[in-house]
Amino acid sequence: MTGAGRGLGRSFVDGLLGRGAAKVYAGSRVPNSWDDDRVVPIELDVTDPVQVRSAAERCRDVDLLVNNAGIMRLTPLIGSDDDSAARDELEVNFFGTLAMCRAFAPVLAANGGGAIVDVLSVASWVAPPASGGYGASKSAAWALTNAARVELREQGTLVVAVHAGFIDTEMVTRVKAPKISPADVVAQVLDGVESGAEEILADDESRETKAALPRDLEVLYPRLQRLWDGRRRGRARE
Ligand SMILES: NC(=O)c1ccc[n+]([C@@H]2O[C@H](COP(=O)([O-])OP(=O)(O)OC[C@H]3O[C@@H](n4cnc5c(N)ncnc54)[C@H](OP(=O)(O)O)[C@@H]3O)[C@@H](O)[C@H]2O)c1
Repeated sequence: MTGAGRGLGRSFVDGLLGRGAAKVYAGSRVPNSWDDDRVVPIELDVTDPVQVRSAAERCRDVDLLVNNAGIMRLTPLIGSDDDSAARDELEVNFFGTLAMCRAFAPVLAANGGGAIVDVLSVASWVAPPASGGYGASKSAAWALTNAARVELREQGTLVVAVHAGFIDTEMVTRVKAPKISPADVVAQVLDGVESGAEEILADDESRETKAALPRDLEVLYPRLQRLWDGRRRGRARE
């Protein structure tokens, strides 16, 4: 597990334990203490190549890698002072996921193939202007997930893409829209891994967004444009 300390990551740890996992390596930047002996805390910043390598060397018995760590800087791509937020988001959400997949692919192969779960987003498919870099990073991570699935099929690794709209965690505390519970997402993902599913669309938002892709400019973007224009007018009045 990456990003195991809070939010969806913590729910993943609970869900895995609830389904009888023998051991869960809980990776987080600052290792937490856990009240279950099956949880092994690991110091893991996914942007730190030394920590990623050392996690792969230490966790030789992993058969399920969950790439959950992610950040959202809520910064537009054009109207921001610089591109540092977009670079940070790519660093964690794309390159961090890539580094983990590369480091753990041989471990998974040695353990019979196993599975990789990449936690993506509806933002892989519809680019939110208020957090443009986040959308770009999740699109890139979606492409990575699809390419890795093809590349790793031969070694028997199931590669699962998880998409959701809003999940009720700290990342979106300010959002008032409906949110799915982290436990619900985890239950769907773990059911999916057990049944060999390659994609989990966890909520109506993700199902509707994917279905709208052939007509995305027509169906998805007018609403985003209205929201963006309203926000801009609101700021101009302040
Ligand atoms: N919440 C949503 O609406 C939503 C919707 C769709 C997809 N997602 C995705 O779900 C995943 C989990 O997010 P969340 O909702 O649980 O948000 P969250 O509560 O903000 O948790 C983010 C997690 O990522 C970890 N993290 C951030 N940077 C890291 C790094 N460099 N190395 C390792 N861990 C790092 C954080 O660790 P620290 O505690 O050390 O900061 C934290 O555990 C993310 O990939 C997110 O993009 C979220």
